[in-house]
Amino acid sequence: MASQKLAVPYISVINGPLKPGKSFIIRGVVNPTNPYRMEFNFRHRYGIAFHFNPRFDKNRVVCNTWYGTWGKEEYPAGMPFKAGQPFEVYIYCTDSVYNVSVNGQQMCNYNHRFMELKNIDVLDVCGDLQVISVEV
Ligand code: GAL
Repeated sequence: MASQKLAVPYISVINGPLKPGKSFIIRGVVNPTNPYRMEFNFRHRYGIAFHFNPRFDKNRVVCNTWYGTWGKEEYPAGMPFKAGQPFEVYIYCTDSVYNVSVNGQQMCNYNHRFMELKNIDVLDVCGDLQVISVEV
């Protein structure tokens, strides 16, 4: 299949909606020139349950939850995203965590802070990337 350019931000409705056992695959390419940040956000009506935020300016990934305000940031080890490089992010939701792998390598387990998984119905992807595909 030829890769096509999808609009960024790319917003997916999570049918179902979210529940343990559901997984997501986001394929994309980091912008080649001076990428700053990318965001993967699992959203509900009132906030962001899981914000996965690769930061090229800080050379690290920041994870957090927004519920009226940002919570405490978590910093998984490693920065597998590189300017101009393709990537595959796999996110698997369990009853306790979002388990994230990047390019086939386990990267982090982010504990659920927003527990009402059934209210999480949107995954958006935005920032300095080209989205190739999002499987929800
Ligand atoms: C803020 C930033 C937000 C979000 C948040 C995560 O500083 O402006 O976009 O990434 O950190 O803690």
